[in-house]
Amino acid sequence: MCDRLVLVFATAIAASLVSGSAAKLAPDFIHPCNDTTPACLIQATKDAIPEFSKGLPHLGVPSLDPFIIEELPIQLPGIKVTFYGGKATGLRNCEVLNVEAYLEKNVFKIEVRCNITIKGKYTAVGRLLLFPINGEGDSKIKIVNSVIKLNIHTKYYKDSNGRDHFGIKNYKFSFDYGERIHYTITNLFKGNPELSNTVLQFLNENWRVVTEEFGQPVVDYALNVTVNTAKKFFDAVPYDELLNVPIPKY
Ligand SMILES: *[C@@H]1O[C@H](CO)[C@@H](O)[C@H](O)[C@H]1NC(C)=O
Ligand SMILES: *[C@@H]1O[C@H](CO)[C@@H](O)[C@H](O)[C@H]1NC(C)=O
Ligand SMILES: *[C@@H]1O[C@H](CO)[C@@H](O)[C@H](O)[C@H]1NC(C)=O
Repeated sequence: MCDRLVLVFATAIAASLVSGSAAKLAPDFIHPCNDTTPACLIQATKDAIPEFSKGLPHLGVPSLDPFIIEELPIQLPGIKVTFYGGKATGLRNCEVLNVEAYLEKNVFKIEVRCNITIKGKYTAVGRLLLFPINGEGDSKIKIVNSVIKLNIHTKYYKDSNGRDHFGIKNYKFSFDYGERIHYTITNLFKGNPELSNTVLQFLNENWRVVTEEFGQPVVDYALNVTVNTAKKFFDAVPYDELLNVPIPKY
């Protein structure tokens, strides 16, 4: 009786050790494709984005939605804006327009359309439209139907256990500001709500020009964080758990 119990127990431990060593690291929402057709890659990306963007703390992958912006200084000609205590949301609802992978050529392309809202506090010191500005308050930026195309140059490498991984060598992107950007910014001119409102209205009427000036550093920052987040994920999860296609020689 006692022996049998020990045996069952030992078997259970052995089984858990075996399955433990082979335990998959990829979360269940990763549905590996068996080929690299865009149709499968698009579907797999759609399946993954909502959960992936919440973050995977056990794999060291931070959340992208909400995405915390602790402090982002933006130096523009004549004015320095610092955005802090911020939060960007909406990534989990991005529409996946296209995904392509060329394994031999180390190319991975993804194209999404997103609505993103960025909220936080800001300070702005300098000059804006001839007016000396010394603003400090709350800001909200709503980006509607922006299309982001990301072109990643990948690489392959082996981890210390000899398992293959995707790596990211570098990336390029293009970004269009979409249909409309709405700015809500309080207290642009301290103690002068009328002037603050007039200038805010001007910013919204000229959102495209304003965003071209102001948007580039924000987008650079956001994509850098996104790519670094993907890198952490690829470091944590081996190639063969992401794609059921033989890895090219490298
Ligand atoms: C890949 O093939 C496996 C085994 O045939 C199958 O279970 C799985 O659903 C396929 N994956 C996709 C994304 O079609
Ligand atoms: C973004 O918002 C607009 C307007 O609310 C809506 O028509 C559009 O479908 C949304 N796009 C996405 C990608 O969610
Ligand atoms: C991108 O992020 C990394 C680490 O997160 C940082 O070291 C690097 O300076 C950033 N690059 C740019 C261009 O912001």
